Amino acid sequence: MENSSIPQFPEPYWRENSKIPSFDKLNESVKTDVGIVGGGITGITSAYLLSRQGLQVTLVDAGVLVNGTTGHTTAKITAQHGLVYDELINHFGVEKATLYYQAAEEAKQFIETTVKELGINCDFQKEDAYIYTNEDNFIKQLELEKKAYDQLSISGELTNSIPLDLPVKAALIMKEQAQFHPIKYLKALVKECVKNGVKFYENTTAVDIEYNKHPSIVMRDGNRVTCRYVIAASHFPFYDKESFYFSRMYPERSYLIAIKADHNFPGGMYINAESPTRSIRATEHNGKKLWLIGGENHKTGQGIPTMEHYKALYNFAENHFTVKDYLYRWSAQDLTTLDKVPYIGRITKNEDAVFIATGFRKWGMTNGTISGKIICDQILNKENVYSELFSPSRFQADPSVRKFIKMNTDVAKHLVKGKMEYTNSDVSKLEPDNAMVARIKGNRTGVYKDKENELHMVDTTCTHLGCEVEWNSGDRTWDCPCHGSRFSYTGDVIEGPAKKPLKKIEDHS
Ligand code: FES
Repeated sequence: MENSSIPQFPEPYWRENSKIPSFDKLNESVKTDVGIVGGGITGITSAYLLSRQGLQVTLVDAGVLVNGTTGHTTAKITAQHGLVYDELINHFGVEKATLYYQAAEEAKQFIETTVKELGINCDFQKEDAYIYTNEDNFIKQLELEKKAYDQLSISGELTNSIPLDLPVKAALIMKEQAQFHPIKYLKALVKECVKNGVKFYENTTAVDIEYNKHPSIVMRDGNRVTCRYVIAASHFPFYDKESFYFSRMYPERSYLIAIKADHNFPGGMYINAESPTRSIRATEHNGKKLWLIGGENHKTGQGIPTMEHYKALYNFAENHFTVKDYLYRWSAQDLTTLDKVPYIGRITKNEDAVFIATGFRKWGMTNGTISGKIICDQILNKENVYSELFSPSRFQADPSVRKFIKMNTDVAKHLVKGKMEYTNSDVSKLEPDNAMVARIKGNRTGVYKDKENELHMVDTTCTHLGCEVEWNSGDRTWDCPCHGSRFSYTGDVIEGPAKKPLKKIEDHS
């Protein structure tokens, strides 16, 4: 490889390459029709749709717009959500599985139409999507998935080769899917929203909803957005209303690297059926193809050191395509619901004012877009055929309950393991830009030494429900293995369900 060094900091290509406008912090309490929390694809699409209907919309984000999962995506716009349709037919029946497919198709169509209508230059491109396998025992699964495609009238094809130069035993094609540059697309939507009067506020953290005549979104500093409707589009819902979403979804992290390769990219978007996952697509970069290679998903806060995942992706790229340049690396967090279908709609059955959209697995471009459409219709009291399928209040006994029990056993294991673990590492031996867990004055303490040799120490007890956080060397964060809360090395919340920062420990050495 010509440029052999691994990018030092995680930064998605999308955000480096296109800047979205910035907005002030909310410094007062305001009133609006719809208050949206979260400036990713769900929040911005909702704001765009509702503002076009003449509603007054205020959107707040705890950080900056499009810097959560949407800014860290592979940006595939496809209804091919991995191997899912055979499973959906088994659990929900043909009718609901068809609706799931149609929802993703409608989202894809919406993005395409919006790109045309607004003349958005966002590298939108039609591509065929492929699930491939090189393992004999997955061939049967691809055949079953093809049978499901036929039952649902999805146009697909089984083949034993793909355009990409990879060893493959079988592959399933879904034709005419798409890809784009998510920031360029959402930047145009934000511009339209501003024209329609939407107010955006960044660095404004919502922590609660209080009810009076109307709900008020309460910010950490006490300012409020009082509104008729609230949309929690904050990835993990910032407000739970005793719905225990943390126990009904599990968080996973996955990784992406962006490289220049010594091969021509033949077009197409790829994902394998087996583990570890390998997802491949390309985008234009200075007149050449930038290959985006992703995968290596694992439960948040669990498993091998995170830098090893980047190495594994790099080795895969080097082995198959010969890496010429290694330009970007980044990671993302995804939430999966108990039955793999996102939760979109009213937060509880009897709640008419608060809506959530979460649990998109890894398919946020289509699921986030259709969330905007469904919630917009629900607010406008319009019929939406997908409402029931995605309702957060649904209950499917199979396989949810089994998974629920397994998942909570896993949480209990981490609660106990973290507390019992004995650590007596010597902090004085810590190298710059490294972290360790040490027992300091009897307390399990997370210690990160920055590049200037300054120590940042936090109590590793997660402020959500008390599990012990683990160091994530790839992102320099403390991640919780139980429900996926993530904290910066100084202890600030990056990702919920935790709302409070980790307790800082002073260095009196
Ligand atoms: Fe629930 Fe940490 S996220 S205990």
